[in-house]
Amino acid sequence: MNINLQVKNGETSLKALILVGGFGTRLRPLSCTRPKALFPILNKPLLQWTFERLVKNGIREVILAVSHQAEILIKQQKIPKNGLKITYSRDLFKKPLGTGGPIKKAEKLVGRDSPFLVLNGDIFADIDYKEILKTHEKKKALATIALHNVKDPSRYGVAELTKENRIKTFVEKPPRKLAPTNLINAGVYILSPKIFEYIPQGRKVSIEREVFPKLAEEGRLYGHIFDDLWIDIGEPEEFLEINRTLLNSTALLQKHKMRTRGKIEEPVAFDKNVLIGEESVVGPYAVLGRNVTIGNNVYIKDSVVFPNAVISDFSIVNGAIIGENVVIGKKVKINRGCILGDNVKIEDNVTLANRVSICPAKEVSESVLKPKCVI
Ligand code: GTP
Repeated sequence: MNINLQVKNGETSLKALILVGGFGTRLRPLSCTRPKALFPILNKPLLQWTFERLVKNGIREVILAVSHQAEILIKQQKIPKNGLKITYSRDLFKKPLGTGGPIKKAEKLVGRDSPFLVLNGDIFADIDYKEILKTHEKKKALATIALHNVKDPSRYGVAELTKENRIKTFVEKPPRKLAPTNLINAGVYILSPKIFEYIPQGRKVSIEREVFPKLAEEGRLYGHIFDDLWIDIGEPEEFLEINRTLLNSTALLQKHKMRTRGKIEEPVAFDKNVLIGEESVVGPYAVLGRNVTIGNNVYIKDSVVFPNAVISDFSIVNGAIIGENVVIGKKVKINRGCILGDNVKIEDNVTLANRVSICPAKEVSESVLKPKCVI
């Protein structure tokens, strides 16, 4: 096909379509009240990081494929656009379209003139989109998938390549032993407009299960391997991991010279108006959102606390994600892998075992000692 993408002063006419809908079941209960793309990474919504990377790559036009609720929440966040032109492509009312349906739904906004970039909205990837486009053009592909090497590919789509980087087989979530390689779909694609002919209209479609295997069979699917930082924040542990990884990156470290009688163990990240009481130890790897208040003698490490939460005296939080406006009483113990939804209230003296999830706005007055419980 005729590729007429223009690049002027480092800017490109390549449009980006970001998938920002879906249920985010693995990040519940925090994903009940925000799309994954609005989860804060070092106190900045993931979508803001993505916008910044797009601008850095010279991209000027973004289409957000959203559910009704996601659109409202994104607009409320007032993320700086840095010159990006943003339009919204809405899923059908209360009917998620999966990972392929929203691409078909955005057909008119994307247009049929040139290839376009598609990003899963729940990944953090330090990737040069122009390089994938180059591979796409060179190979005259119909779709080119960014591929990343991981230890355990069983949770992802796995690709097997020929020497020419053509994807021979594409298998979604194979059992670990049956995975043909460790090269996984990084959730970043360049697609040519012909792709629209492969996606049925008006229903949920999985691009990974229904479209990519077919393209692989037809020899029109290519891979572009990249080695830089990549994390899919779809699971709680991965969400903590990307925060840890960025805290470790020295370029991003702020100096924390705040006046506190508590002890700060770097690396940590604090948003505005964080208060820390006497004798508390915060960090390493604590990310505290705007207006978070930490009482006296609190221990908090390896955790992310969303804005406006309060953690009272003598409480311990280790390896947990604490939602917005959560109030944690005194002498509370929150163990690894716990997730507290927005507006949760935990009474004094409560202990939560490992990986307990508390639904938004619940009040918990008794300890939950059975791991993995959902309350
Ligand atoms: P889980 O339920 O935890 O698997 O999450 P999910 O529903 O978001 O599914 P998945 O992680 O496979 O989604 C991959 C990407 O597609 C993410 O960026 C989602 O935001 C996006 N996505 C998934 N389903 C939809 C949908 O129905 N509509 C739109 N617009 N995006 C979707």
